[in-house]
Amino acid sequence: MERPSAAAADDRVVVRNVLGPRDRHAELARDVRDGLTGPVKEIPPKYFYDARGSDLFERITAQPEYYPTRAETEILELHAADFVSDVGAHVLVEYGSGSSTKTRLLLDAMHAQGTLEGYAPVDVSEDAVHAAADLLVSEYPELQVVIVVADFDAPLDLSFAGRPRLIAFLGSTIGNFTPEAARRFMVCVAEELEPGDGFLIGFDLVKDARELEAAYDDAAGVTAAFNLNLLSVLNRELHADFDERTFRHRAFYDAGRARIEMHLVSEIAQSVRIADLDLEVRFEAGESIRTELSHKYTPESARGLLEAGGLRIRRWETDGSARFAVALAERR
Ligand code: AVJ
Repeated sequence: MERPSAAAADDRVVVRNVLGPRDRHAELARDVRDGLTGPVKEIPPKYFYDARGSDLFERITAQPEYYPTRAETEILELHAADFVSDVGAHVLVEYGSGSSTKTRLLLDAMHAQGTLEGYAPVDVSEDAVHAAADLLVSEYPELQVVIVVADFDAPLDLSFAGRPRLIAFLGSTIGNFTPEAARRFMVCVAEELEPGDGFLIGFDLVKDARELEAAYDDAAGVTAAFNLNLLSVLNRELHADFDERTFRHRAFYDAGRARIEMHLVSEIAQSVRIADLDLEVRFEAGESIRTELSHKYTPESARGLLEAGGLRIRRWETDGSARFAVALAERR
């Protein structure tokens, strides 16, 4: 059988690396040194996602307590066609390799409306998206994929300029950003948006503390395993000697700051050696490493954030239980 399109599938997937060569080990080493030698111990959540961490995150999204993924998918199932037609989108740019389900809901809507031309996943790792991209071009014969290897927090020269684009930042990943970093990110996004482009962003909404805390401490212990896996990343990548059995997972909601904090609490007083940093880190019993912030938004705080970046909300949709929202915004 001939392929349906003249261009071979691999001609329709190109990679643009806007990161440049980087020393991942040096970056991790610097972040961990900075994070563990200050007054408050902290490690950025991006280091959760080694192969096992990514797998555990997928399993988190299937836990009964972790509603965000299901709620956002529900919104896209109902409104993907509206988001796409409001923009007349020909191109989907997606920050972070999102779940393939959510990506497909948007691509399907573009395909059904006869506008689909391109998909540009923006990810720090080419490996994470290449297999998915190859599959997508085989499913959508008209699709051109540009894999953009980049950090979210750097201004990007986004692909397919000149065509109406839907730029998606789903999964409430914005929750990981401090309010200042979130504002900076919005300014970067606004600078990338051409008039007529749409920005689609998912926000997890403020709600009852018990429901939030359960979502970050599921009964099956998957989130705990996900959090503790960070210690194996440090052991492997930095030749550290963290003993996972002496740390426990803790997640709590800080209502004043409207955010979940995840910590790894040392249950005993101990010193941990990180050979690659030539560093001993001292823990008192009960002392913790903060591993993640997950900010929750109200309709007002979400609007304030978008407006601070120079964006205006065009459409705001929530799931049936108003636990999660997806906003479609445009440049003011
Ligand atoms: C991927 C950052 C959106 O904050 O809910 C899930 C990560 N951490 N359970 C979130 C996460 C623990 C997730 N984000």
